[in-house]
Amino acid sequence: MKRLLLFAAFATLACGARAPRTETMEQLRERVFQVARHQAVFMDSLLPEGRCPKTFQDGEPVTSDIGWWCSGFYPGVLWTLASPGDTLERLAVRHTLPLARLTERKTDHDIGFQLMSSFGYWNIVLYYTPDRDPETVRMVGSVLRKGAEQLAGRFDPAVGCIRSWDFGDWNFPVIIDNMMNLELLMDYGDRSVAETHALTTMKNHFREDGTCFHLVDYADDGSVLGRQTVQGFSDESAWARGQAWALYGYAMMALKEKSAGNRELAKTFYDVAAKLENWLLGHLPEDGVPYWDFSQTEYKDASAGAVIACGLLKLRQFRGAEDDGRGLIMAERILRTLASPEYLAEPGTNGGFILKHSVGHLPNRSEVDVPLTYADYYFLEALTLYPYAD
Ligand code: GLY
Repeated sequence: MKRLLLFAAFATLACGARAPRTETMEQLRERVFQVARHQAVFMDSLLPEGRCPKTFQDGEPVTSDIGWWCSGFYPGVLWTLASPGDTLERLAVRHTLPLARLTERKTDHDIGFQLMSSFGYWNIVLYYTPDRDPETVRMVGSVLRKGAEQLAGRFDPAVGCIRSWDFGDWNFPVIIDNMMNLELLMDYGDRSVAETHALTTMKNHFREDGTCFHLVDYADDGSVLGRQTVQGFSDESAWARGQAWALYGYAMMALKEKSAGNRELAKTFYDVAAKLENWLLGHLPEDGVPYWDFSQTEYKDASAGAVIACGLLKLRQFRGAEDDGRGLIMAERILRTLASPEYLAEPGTNGGFILKHSVGHLPNRSEVDVPLTYADYYFLEALTLYPYAD
């Protein structure tokens, strides 16, 4: 305990700086990354051996085993902040390695989230490391390819989708979150499975106004049995993080197709994301961070804000010189709000999480107005995607 108090006191002195009145986005990024580095080390000091952070509630860390869908996000935060040979890199390796065991047991569609934020990030770091160890490169690549095979194994050609969950009373449930898992297949597996899933989801998950349902249940022949929410307010409302996953997922698919030279598919996926972007730009609140569901006015969800910022910045990348700047303005607004004292934790507090005020599963009354690993991960990702040179 004494060690923690000392750490907290030091961290507060070292990076308790407030935002200057006219802070540039570069200065904002530096300020946030400084806080994030302290928080990432602090979080490690709180974690029981072999556990993954889930949230911090009533003054206590809540943890999970590697099977929880979020087990890759803390390793991903560490990889984002690490430099060659530093403490954060050592922690990143230590917290990533246990996730390799996921490829040796039955998993669900979230293997994409779990592996891309941990091993996927490690693989990118290795790519830029001149004297990388060939055995590490082989091991990391093998975990990612095995994970992609597991994910593709959940694909049903008659439905044209990857099955999301194995629990519940549904026949073949597919949730919009599943769009995020496709990146594992696009980079390390069967791209055609990812493309078919995205094309089917595009047809069945979206409403006329561009927003999406949370869950679609399919019959064995691929016809739709029902559309509903599980984590949103109502079946017809727009659950904020669901919209965020859809925006990011289709923007990611559009970018991957564009870099592969598949112009038609790139445009198809881009159109889905752009229509949703337009809706979001008209419905996000003044400070950019949505309430947990667009029909509600209590409990902001920092995680949805962070993922939406990433999606907007990816769409901007896709458009390049054609971009009209509307999404960039909103992304900046979101990031400035998340970097304000209302959301950004004081170093040495918040259980080592970077952001406060996210919502996990409100209808279950679980994780309401708490820190969450994916809010932190996508906040740092958005700060990495932001085009500072403009
Ligand atoms: N994938 C679960 C969630 O967004 O809460």
